[in-house]
Amino acid sequence: MEELTNTMENTMPRIGDTAPSFVAQSTQGEINFPDDFDGKWVILFSHPADFTPVCTSEFMTFAKRQKEFEKHNCQLIGLSVDGLYSHIAWLRTIKEKIKFRDMENIEVKFPLIEDITMNVANKFGMIQPNESDTKAVRAVFFIDPNVKIRAIIYYPLSLGRNFNELMRVLIALQTADKYQIATPADWQPGEKVIVPPPGSCGVATDRMEGKENNMECLDWFFCMKELPKEEMLD
Ligand code: BEZ
Repeated sequence: MEELTNTMENTMPRIGDTAPSFVAQSTQGEINFPDDFDGKWVILFSHPADFTPVCTSEFMTFAKRQKEFEKHNCQLIGLSVDGLYSHIAWLRTIKEKIKFRDMENIEVKFPLIEDITMNVANKFGMIQPNESDTKAVRAVFFIDPNVKIRAIIYYPLSLGRNFNELMRVLIALQTADKYQIATPADWQPGEKVIVPPPGSCGVATDRMEGKENNMECLDWFFCMKELPKEEMLD
């Protein structure tokens, strides 16, 4: 078990890595990643098993919010180590039978990968044997249009994901790319962002003397600004 754990850790992709490529069967046909997703952001996420309650609540929420992700040029791809017929049966049950919160008659239109061989799950370090060696943990990979992994969030089997946080992470990454800024703790779209620290003593002094437009500095290394309202991602 120790040896297996180490092997998994060594092959887990990390932030900044190019996401591993794969070909897989899904509920929407064959997927060729990354070629089928040219120019798009991708959220690739795993769930432990079909026909389980936490996963069902998550799938309904992903499906309900799919258009919001797409508005941000982001495609969803789900994965579990179940087979294709299990996936199809589960998605049919969700649509036909399950009412959860304000959701019912929910059709999952994004692809759900079958990964009985754990080929894709292993490439992405989704099997974490000390949590479960037969099920994927709840992993979320944010992959940018250059196929770079930009953020990774892992949840254990027992904990359903926070979808407002997934959306916030996506928008924060896209905002950071667009404006070369960073985002502070608990940042929400529309709030002030953090400008990169000054590259010289002169710029530090200018900022502290209020000579840079629209910048609010708490100290020379900690300055924030508003983004143009009309261009704000939300
Ligand atoms: C669930 O999705 O409900 C679940 C899956 C695996 C283990 C525990 C809960």
